Amino acid sequence: MYNVAVVGATGAVGQKMIEVLTEYEFPINELMLYASARSAGKTVTVNGQDVVIRELSDAIYADPIDIALFSAGGSISEQYAPRLSEQGVIVIDNSSAFRMQADIPLIVPEVNRVELSPDKPLIANPNCSTIQSVVALAPLAEVYGLTRVAYTSYQAVSGSGQKGIEDLERGARGEEPQNYPYPIYDNVLPHIDVFLENGYTKEEQKMIDETRKILNAPNLGVTATCVRVPVRNSHAVSITVTLDREATLAEVKAVLSDAPGVVLMDNPGELVYPTPLDANGTDDVYIGRVRVDESQPNTFHLWCVADNVRKGAAANAVQIAQCMIGQTATK
Ligand code: A2P
Repeated sequence: MYNVAVVGATGAVGQKMIEVLTEYEFPINELMLYASARSAGKTVTVNGQDVVIRELSDAIYADPIDIALFSAGGSISEQYAPRLSEQGVIVIDNSSAFRMQADIPLIVPEVNRVELSPDKPLIANPNCSTIQSVVALAPLAEVYGLTRVAYTSYQAVSGSGQKGIEDLERGARGEEPQNYPYPIYDNVLPHIDVFLENGYTKEEQKMIDETRKILNAPNLGVTATCVRVPVRNSHAVSITVTLDREATLAEVKAVLSDAPGVVLMDNPGELVYPTPLDANGTDDVYIGRVRVDESQPNTFHLWCVADNVRKGAAANAVQIAQCMIGQTATK
Protein backbone atom coordinates (compact mmCIF):
# COMPACT_ATOMS: atom_id res chain seq x y z
CA MET A 1 0.00 0.00 0.00
CA TYR A 2 1.31 3.43 -0.95
CA ASN A 3 0.93 6.99 0.24
CA VAL A 4 -0.14 8.82 -2.90
CA ALA A 5 -0.10 12.60 -3.37
CA VAL A 6 -2.01 14.53 -6.03
CA VAL A 7 -0.60 18.04 -6.54
CA GLY A 8 -3.17 20.25 -8.28
CA ALA A 9 -5.95 18.13 -6.81
CA THR A 10 -8.70 20.70 -7.50
CA GLY A 11 -7.93 21.08 -11.21
CA ALA A 12 -9.63 19.31 -14.12
CA VAL A 13 -6.81 16.74 -14.42
CA GLY A 14 -6.15 16.49 -10.65
CA GLN A 15 -9.78 15.65 -9.95
CA LYS A 16 -9.71 13.04 -12.69
CA MET A 17 -6.50 11.57 -11.24
CA ILE A 18 -8.33 11.03 -7.93
CA GLU A 19 -11.26 9.44 -9.77
CA VAL A 20 -9.01 7.11 -11.79
CA LEU A 21 -6.94 6.08 -8.74
CA THR A 22 -10.18 5.05 -7.05
CA GLU A 23 -11.63 3.37 -10.14
CA TYR A 24 -8.44 1.36 -10.73
CA GLU A 25 -8.38 0.38 -7.03
CA PHE A 26 -4.82 1.66 -6.79
CA PRO A 27 -3.33 0.31 -3.54
CA ILE A 28 -3.49 3.52 -1.51
CA ASN A 29 -2.66 3.73 2.16
CA GLU A 30 -3.12 7.50 2.46
CA LEU A 31 -4.22 9.94 -0.23
CA MET A 32 -2.70 13.41 0.21
CA LEU A 33 -4.20 16.25 -1.81
CA TYR A 34 -2.42 19.54 -2.49
CA ALA A 35 -3.53 22.76 -4.19
CA SER A 36 -3.04 26.50 -3.75
CA ALA A 37 -3.91 28.56 -0.68
CA ARG A 38 -7.23 29.29 -2.43
CA SER A 39 -8.36 25.70 -1.91
CA ALA A 40 -6.54 24.75 1.27
CA GLY A 41 -8.87 23.48 3.98
CA LYS A 42 -11.67 22.47 1.57
CA THR A 43 -12.62 18.81 1.67
CA VAL A 44 -13.01 16.33 -1.14
CA THR A 45 -14.93 13.09 -0.63
CA VAL A 46 -12.96 10.12 -1.93
CA ASN A 47 -14.39 6.62 -1.52
CA GLY A 48 -16.81 7.92 1.11
CA GLN A 49 -14.04 9.57 3.15
CA ASP A 50 -13.40 13.30 3.48
CA VAL A 51 -9.88 14.33 2.52
CA VAL A 52 -8.76 17.85 3.39
CA ILE A 53 -6.86 19.80 0.69
CA ARG A 54 -3.45 20.94 1.91
CA GLU A 55 -1.73 24.10 0.79
CA LEU A 56 1.30 23.23 -1.32
CA SER A 57 4.47 24.48 0.38
CA ASP A 58 7.93 23.24 1.32
CA ALA A 59 6.22 21.24 4.07
CA ILE A 60 5.50 18.65 1.35
CA TYR A 61 9.13 17.48 1.57
CA ALA A 62 8.49 16.22 5.11
CA ASP A 63 5.27 14.39 4.20
CA PRO A 64 5.62 10.58 3.93
CA ILE A 65 4.79 10.35 0.20
CA ASP A 66 5.63 7.30 -1.94
CA ILE A 67 4.12 8.44 -5.24
CA ALA A 68 3.23 11.99 -6.30
CA LEU A 69 1.12 12.87 -9.35
CA PHE A 70 1.67 16.50 -10.38
CA SER A 71 -0.78 18.54 -12.42
CA ALA A 72 -0.54 22.13 -11.19
CA GLY A 73 1.39 23.68 -14.10
CA GLY A 74 5.01 23.69 -15.17
CA SER A 75 6.40 26.18 -12.69
CA ILE A 76 5.00 24.25 -9.69
CA SER A 77 6.53 21.06 -11.10
CA GLU A 78 9.88 22.77 -11.64
CA GLN A 79 9.82 24.02 -8.08
CA TYR A 80 8.85 20.81 -6.26
CA ALA A 81 9.24 17.71 -8.44
CA PRO A 82 13.06 17.41 -8.66
CA ARG A 83 13.64 17.59 -4.91
CA LEU A 84 10.83 15.17 -4.15
CA SER A 85 12.20 12.66 -6.65
CA GLU A 86 15.70 13.10 -5.21
CA GLN A 87 14.17 12.08 -1.89
CA GLY A 88 13.06 8.84 -3.58
CA VAL A 89 9.43 9.75 -4.24
CA ILE A 90 8.11 8.44 -7.57
CA VAL A 91 6.97 11.64 -9.29
CA ILE A 92 4.77 11.50 -12.39
CA ASP A 93 4.54 14.96 -13.85
CA ASN A 94 1.77 16.00 -16.21
CA SER A 95 3.37 19.35 -17.13
CA SER A 96 5.70 19.91 -20.05
CA ALA A 97 8.55 21.00 -17.73
CA PHE A 98 10.71 17.86 -18.01
CA ARG A 99 9.34 16.03 -21.03
CA MET A 100 12.21 16.75 -23.39
CA GLN A 101 15.05 16.23 -20.89
CA ALA A 102 17.07 13.32 -22.23
CA ASP A 103 17.45 11.55 -18.88
CA ILE A 104 13.74 11.76 -18.00
CA PRO A 105 11.48 9.00 -19.31
CA LEU A 106 8.46 10.22 -21.30
CA ILE A 107 6.06 7.34 -21.09
CA VAL A 108 2.93 5.94 -22.66
CA PRO A 109 2.66 2.45 -21.12
CA GLU A 110 1.32 0.73 -24.28
CA VAL A 111 4.29 2.10 -26.24
CA ASN A 112 7.46 2.42 -24.15
CA ARG A 113 6.91 1.20 -20.61
CA VAL A 114 10.25 -0.69 -20.94
CA GLU A 115 11.98 2.66 -20.47
CA LEU A 116 10.71 2.90 -16.90
CA SER A 117 13.32 2.17 -14.27
CA PRO A 118 13.48 2.36 -10.48
CA ASP A 119 16.61 4.53 -10.92
CA LYS A 120 14.53 7.20 -12.69
CA PRO A 121 11.79 8.17 -10.25
CA LEU A 122 10.89 11.40 -12.07
CA ILE A 123 8.75 10.51 -15.05
CA ALA A 124 7.05 12.82 -17.53
CA ASN A 125 3.49 12.26 -18.73
CA PRO A 126 3.29 13.34 -22.39
CA ASN A 127 1.08 15.94 -24.03
CA CYS A 128 -2.53 14.81 -24.40
CA SER A 129 -2.81 14.75 -28.21
CA THR A 130 0.58 13.09 -28.44
CA ILE A 131 -0.41 10.24 -26.10
CA GLN A 132 -3.40 9.18 -28.18
CA SER A 133 -1.49 9.59 -31.44
CA VAL A 134 1.48 7.43 -30.45
CA VAL A 135 -0.82 4.68 -29.17
CA ALA A 136 -2.06 4.51 -32.77
CA LEU A 137 1.32 4.96 -34.45
CA ALA A 138 3.52 2.65 -32.35
CA PRO A 139 2.11 -0.64 -33.70
CA LEU A 140 2.52 0.66 -37.28
CA ALA A 141 6.07 1.78 -36.48
CA GLU A 142 6.89 -1.68 -35.17
CA VAL A 143 5.54 -3.59 -38.17
CA TYR A 144 6.29 -1.24 -41.08
CA GLY A 145 8.55 1.56 -39.84
CA LEU A 146 7.47 5.19 -40.19
CA THR A 147 8.75 7.69 -42.75
CA ARG A 148 6.57 10.70 -41.96
CA VAL A 149 3.66 11.76 -39.76
CA ALA A 150 1.38 14.80 -40.27
CA TYR A 151 -1.09 15.69 -37.53
CA THR A 152 -4.09 18.00 -37.48
CA SER A 153 -5.69 18.05 -34.04
CA TYR A 154 -9.21 19.04 -33.00
CA GLN A 155 -8.76 19.69 -29.30
CA ALA A 156 -11.44 20.04 -26.62
CA VAL A 157 -11.57 22.97 -24.21
CA SER A 158 -11.01 20.71 -21.17
CA GLY A 159 -7.39 20.57 -22.37
CA SER A 160 -7.07 24.13 -21.07
CA GLY A 161 -8.31 23.04 -17.64
CA GLN A 162 -11.28 24.52 -15.84
CA LYS A 163 -10.72 27.92 -17.45
CA GLY A 164 -11.20 26.47 -20.94
CA ILE A 165 -14.50 24.87 -20.01
CA GLU A 166 -15.64 28.12 -18.41
CA ASP A 167 -14.84 30.09 -21.60
CA LEU A 168 -17.00 27.71 -23.67
CA GLU A 169 -19.84 28.13 -21.17
CA ARG A 170 -19.36 31.91 -21.11
CA GLY A 171 -19.61 32.00 -24.91
CA ALA A 172 -22.83 29.94 -24.80
CA ARG A 173 -24.30 32.62 -22.51
CA GLY A 174 -23.21 35.35 -24.96
CA GLU A 175 -20.37 36.58 -22.73
CA GLU A 176 -16.83 37.54 -23.77
CA PRO A 177 -13.97 35.01 -23.36
CA GLN A 178 -11.54 35.37 -20.47
CA ASN A 179 -9.10 32.57 -21.27
CA TYR A 180 -8.84 32.36 -25.07
CA PRO A 181 -8.01 35.47 -27.15
CA TYR A 182 -11.19 34.99 -29.24
CA PRO A 183 -14.53 33.31 -28.58
CA ILE A 184 -14.31 29.51 -28.63
CA TYR A 185 -18.09 29.10 -28.65
CA ASP A 186 -19.34 28.79 -32.25
CA ASN A 187 -15.72 29.15 -33.39
CA VAL A 188 -12.45 27.29 -34.08
CA LEU A 189 -9.02 28.63 -33.06
CA PRO A 190 -5.82 27.56 -34.87
CA HIS A 191 -3.87 28.44 -31.78
CA ILE A 192 -3.00 26.27 -28.74
CA ASP A 193 -0.35 27.49 -26.30
CA VAL A 194 2.08 30.27 -27.28
CA PHE A 195 3.52 30.98 -30.73
CA LEU A 196 7.19 30.13 -31.31
CA GLU A 197 9.68 31.83 -33.62
CA ASN A 198 9.24 29.18 -36.33
CA GLY A 199 5.54 30.07 -36.64
CA TYR A 200 4.38 26.87 -34.95
CA THR A 201 2.60 26.94 -31.62
CA LYS A 202 4.21 25.32 -28.59
CA GLU A 203 1.47 22.64 -28.66
CA GLU A 204 2.43 21.77 -32.25
CA GLN A 205 6.11 21.66 -31.35
CA LYS A 206 5.30 19.43 -28.36
CA MET A 207 3.50 16.95 -30.63
CA ILE A 208 6.48 16.92 -33.00
CA ASP A 209 9.21 16.58 -30.36
CA GLU A 210 7.39 14.22 -28.04
CA THR A 211 6.35 11.87 -30.86
CA ARG A 212 10.00 11.51 -31.85
CA LYS A 213 11.10 10.90 -28.26
CA ILE A 214 8.39 8.36 -27.35
CA LEU A 215 8.78 6.41 -30.60
CA ASN A 216 12.56 6.61 -30.20
CA ALA A 217 12.79 8.04 -33.71
CA PRO A 218 14.78 11.29 -33.49
CA ASN A 219 14.85 11.75 -37.26
CA LEU A 220 11.23 10.94 -38.01
CA GLY A 221 9.56 13.55 -40.20
CA VAL A 222 6.70 14.96 -38.11
CA THR A 223 4.56 18.04 -38.57
CA ALA A 224 1.46 19.29 -36.74
CA THR A 225 -1.36 21.82 -36.82
CA CYS A 226 -3.24 22.08 -33.52
CA VAL A 227 -6.74 23.50 -33.40
CA ARG A 228 -9.03 24.27 -30.45
CA VAL A 229 -12.65 23.37 -31.14
CA PRO A 230 -15.83 24.11 -29.17
CA VAL A 231 -16.06 20.60 -27.76
CA ARG A 232 -16.15 20.16 -24.00
CA ASN A 233 -14.07 16.99 -23.78
CA SER A 234 -12.06 14.45 -25.84
CA HIS A 235 -9.58 15.30 -28.55
CA ALA A 236 -9.61 14.11 -32.16
CA VAL A 237 -6.46 13.93 -34.28
CA SER A 238 -6.39 13.43 -38.03
CA ILE A 239 -3.14 11.54 -38.71
CA THR A 240 -1.52 11.09 -42.10
CA VAL A 241 1.20 8.51 -41.83
CA THR A 242 3.70 7.38 -44.45
CA LEU A 243 5.11 3.90 -43.79
CA ASP A 244 8.61 2.76 -44.66
CA ARG A 245 7.24 -0.09 -46.72
CA GLU A 246 4.16 -1.16 -48.61
CA ALA A 247 1.06 -2.36 -46.80
CA THR A 248 -2.52 -3.01 -47.78
CA LEU A 249 -5.43 -1.26 -46.10
CA ALA A 250 -6.57 -4.60 -44.65
CA GLU A 251 -3.11 -5.23 -43.16
CA VAL A 252 -2.96 -1.78 -41.57
CA LYS A 253 -6.44 -2.23 -40.09
CA ALA A 254 -5.48 -5.67 -38.75
CA VAL A 255 -2.37 -4.26 -37.04
CA LEU A 256 -4.43 -1.46 -35.48
CA SER A 257 -7.21 -3.74 -34.30
CA ASP A 258 -4.68 -5.95 -32.47
CA ALA A 259 -2.84 -3.01 -30.90
CA PRO A 260 -2.93 -2.53 -27.12
CA GLY A 261 -5.17 0.33 -26.05
CA VAL A 262 -6.71 0.73 -29.51
CA VAL A 263 -10.36 0.18 -30.43
CA LEU A 264 -10.89 0.10 -34.17
CA MET A 265 -14.26 1.73 -34.90
CA ASP A 266 -14.24 1.79 -38.62
CA ASN A 267 -17.18 0.84 -40.79
CA PRO A 268 -18.18 3.77 -42.98
CA GLY A 269 -20.97 1.73 -44.65
CA GLU A 270 -22.74 1.60 -41.28
CA LEU A 271 -21.65 5.16 -40.37
CA VAL A 272 -19.28 3.74 -37.75
CA TYR A 273 -16.45 6.12 -36.84
CA PRO A 274 -15.40 7.52 -33.45
CA THR A 275 -16.39 10.94 -32.16
CA PRO A 276 -15.43 12.70 -28.91
CA LEU A 277 -18.74 11.66 -27.32
CA ASP A 278 -17.78 7.99 -27.86
CA ALA A 279 -14.46 8.46 -26.10
CA ASN A 280 -15.64 10.46 -23.08
CA GLY A 281 -15.12 8.63 -19.80
CA THR A 282 -12.99 5.84 -21.30
CA ASP A 283 -9.26 5.10 -21.47
CA ASP A 284 -9.09 3.61 -24.95
CA VAL A 285 -7.89 5.24 -28.15
CA TYR A 286 -10.48 4.95 -30.90
CA ILE A 287 -9.45 4.78 -34.55
CA GLY A 288 -11.67 5.13 -37.58
CA ARG A 289 -11.72 6.40 -41.16
CA VAL A 290 -8.60 4.35 -41.95
CA ARG A 291 -7.94 4.78 -45.64
CA VAL A 292 -5.28 4.92 -48.29
CA ASP A 293 -3.91 8.34 -49.25
CA GLU A 294 -4.17 7.96 -53.00
CA SER A 295 -1.86 10.92 -53.60
CA GLN A 296 1.32 9.42 -52.14
CA PRO A 297 2.87 5.93 -51.83
CA ASN A 298 2.63 3.91 -48.59
CA THR A 299 0.52 6.60 -46.95
CA PHE A 300 -2.63 6.20 -44.85
CA HIS A 301 -5.10 8.47 -43.05
CA LEU A 302 -6.37 7.69 -39.55
CA TRP A 303 -8.93 9.49 -37.40
CA CYS A 304 -7.97 9.08 -33.76
CA VAL A 305 -10.14 10.05 -30.77
CA ALA A 306 -9.52 9.76 -27.02
CA ASP A 307 -10.57 11.32 -23.72
CA ASN A 308 -7.86 13.93 -23.26
CA VAL A 309 -8.37 14.30 -19.53
CA ARG A 310 -8.33 10.51 -18.94
CA LYS A 311 -5.99 8.73 -21.43
CA GLY A 312 -4.44 12.05 -22.41
CA ALA A 313 -3.53 12.93 -18.83
CA ALA A 314 -4.91 11.38 -15.62
CA ALA A 315 -5.33 7.74 -16.65
CA ASN A 316 -1.97 7.64 -18.44
CA ALA A 317 -0.31 9.02 -15.27
CA VAL A 318 -2.00 6.42 -13.06
CA GLN A 319 -1.07 3.67 -15.53
CA ILE A 320 2.57 4.80 -15.28
CA ALA A 321 2.27 4.60 -11.48
CA GLN A 322 0.88 1.08 -11.83
CA CYS A 323 3.86 0.09 -13.98
CA MET A 324 6.26 1.58 -11.41
CA ILE A 325 4.79 -0.54 -8.61
CA GLY A 326 4.72 -3.62 -10.81
CA GLN A 327 0.97 -3.83 -11.33
CA THR A 328 -0.40 -4.55 -14.75
CA ALA A 329 -1.80 -1.33 -16.18
CA THR A 330 -5.56 -1.51 -15.73
CA LYS A 331 -8.18 -0.11 -17.98
P1 A2P B 1 -6.37 25.85 -6.99
O1 A2P B 1 -7.69 25.25 -7.38
O2 A2P B 1 -6.23 25.96 -5.50
O3 A2P B 1 -6.04 27.12 -7.72
P2 A2P B 1 -6.55 23.65 -13.87
O4 A2P B 1 -5.44 23.35 -14.85
O5 A2P B 1 -7.77 22.80 -14.08
O6 A2P B 1 -6.88 25.10 -13.83
O7 A2P B 1 -5.97 23.26 -12.41
C1 A2P B 1 -4.78 23.78 -11.87
C2 A2P B 1 -4.48 23.11 -10.53
O8 A2P B 1 -3.22 23.60 -10.07
C3 A2P B 1 -5.49 23.42 -9.45
O9 A2P B 1 -5.63 22.32 -8.58
C4 A2P B 1 -4.84 24.60 -8.74
O10 A2P B 1 -5.24 24.76 -7.40
C5 A2P B 1 -3.40 24.15 -8.78
N1 A2P B 1 -2.50 25.29 -8.56
C6 A2P B 1 -2.40 26.43 -9.29
N2 A2P B 1 -1.48 27.27 -8.75
C7 A2P B 1 -0.99 26.64 -7.66
C8 A2P B 1 -0.02 26.98 -6.67
N3 A2P B 1 0.64 28.14 -6.71
N4 A2P B 1 0.22 26.09 -5.67
C9 A2P B 1 -0.44 24.91 -5.64
N5 A2P B 1 -1.38 24.53 -6.54
C10 A2P B 1 -1.64 25.38 -7.53
